[in-house]
Amino acid sequence: MTKTFFIETWGCQMNDLDSQRLSGSLKLRGYRRVDTEGEADLILLNTCSIRDKSEQKVFSRLGRLREMKSERELQIGVCGCVAQQEGEAILHRAPWVDFVMGPGNVGHLDQILSGDRRVAIDFPDDRNYDYLAVDRPSATKAQVTIIEGCNKNCTFCIVPTTRGREVSRPFDDVLREVRAAVESGRVEIELLGQTVNAYRCPISGRDFGALLSAVAEIDYVARLRFMTSHPAEVNDSMIAAMRDHENISRYLHLPVQSGSSKILRRMKRLYTREHYLETIARIRQAIPEIHFSTDVIVGFPGETDDDFEQTLSLIAEVRYGSMFAFKYSPRPGTPALKIGAPVDDAIASERLTRVFDLHERIKREHLESYRGRILPVLVEGPSKHDASMLTGRTDYNIVVNFSAAASTPPGSMLGVRIDQAQHHTLRGEAVA
Ligand code: 5AD
Repeated sequence: MTKTFFIETWGCQMNDLDSQRLSGSLKLRGYRRVDTEGEADLILLNTCSIRDKSEQKVFSRLGRLREMKSERELQIGVCGCVAQQEGEAILHRAPWVDFVMGPGNVGHLDQILSGDRRVAIDFPDDRNYDYLAVDRPSATKAQVTIIEGCNKNCTFCIVPTTRGREVSRPFDDVLREVRAAVESGRVEIELLGQTVNAYRCPISGRDFGALLSAVAEIDYVARLRFMTSHPAEVNDSMIAAMRDHENISRYLHLPVQSGSSKILRRMKRLYTREHYLETIARIRQAIPEIHFSTDVIVGFPGETDDDFEQTLSLIAEVRYGSMFAFKYSPRPGTPALKIGAPVDDAIASERLTRVFDLHERIKREHLESYRGRILPVLVEGPSKHDASMLTGRTDYNIVVNFSAAASTPPGSMLGVRIDQAQHHTLRGEAVA
């Protein structure tokens, strides 16, 4: 009988893609994917450890799986960043787990399934990247890793531990993968890396801007995005590539983390408030219609009211189209632990609420500003909530639900007149 598997994924785009790779390689081995854990012979938890909360979820999840395992034949694997960070300790804490596999070993699932290794948390030189096996959930979009790991050592961040040192993929490998994805109908490409714009081809030395241009020039790439850029790695070549290629999204996720230069220094972000704002201005000058999104951390050790006010004023100044904000969460082994205690939890919570309130207002104005305009929308398929409508995204990554001929194929680009701004999304009607 064919074996079945179930994957649950937490965390970032890199983890999503790792799950797509795990799923693809299991399917190649004859496994069938199922949607409920109750039907599965193999359960993979692809975990995240960026904040403490994400980590706690994994152990409560494992507690529940223990019962399931006592009732039937079941293999349980912990993958992802909690696996990397805790390693062997997971087997002590939850001995019913069959194997622990870090992000460096996604391409080596065979050795692990064969029972050769129970704990695989190294970063092998050969990462075995079989892009033809990636099980992509979308018929129109493909995510493509261009660089793994991170060499920045932001003092709050666990990623250098969980994802290792930076390794860029060769330029031509990336282009080959993008071409294969486009041939399968995925006309929207998203290039991924923890610090995506630190990309440098290990063979030719070509930089991120060069790669962006080359990918944008592949036939039928309708839209090109990338995640996540580090502000200190933004350079002229990247900006020029964006400016010169219309199919590169006019949208840039540029995490600022804090608006206070003092806190940025303690975080080791390698830029000041002024430098960040200059970078934004430089990009806006080259590409006036660009939109930004960001990540913010509140309650970092030593953050005073004044530091926090600077974060609010920076958000108001940049007017981000969307943003993510988090309370600082101390992570094991990170240098920030030595900087001092986090801000009192009640104060941090209040700051978080103020960030969300401010951004809610900005976002409202932002969404309202589209009313009456015609925006290019890349069609993804029928709308989830209303089957008589289609859904897609604008260049700025905003979801639009709209009426159009039902025969419009996914992957087409349409002009949509926006007539309504909803909570997070827009509504409209396709125009001829
Ligand atoms: N505490 C809170 N937020 C964090 N992030 C990363 N590490 C931490 C931490 N220790 C946030 C940053 C990053 C995003 C992916 O997660 O804002 O950009």
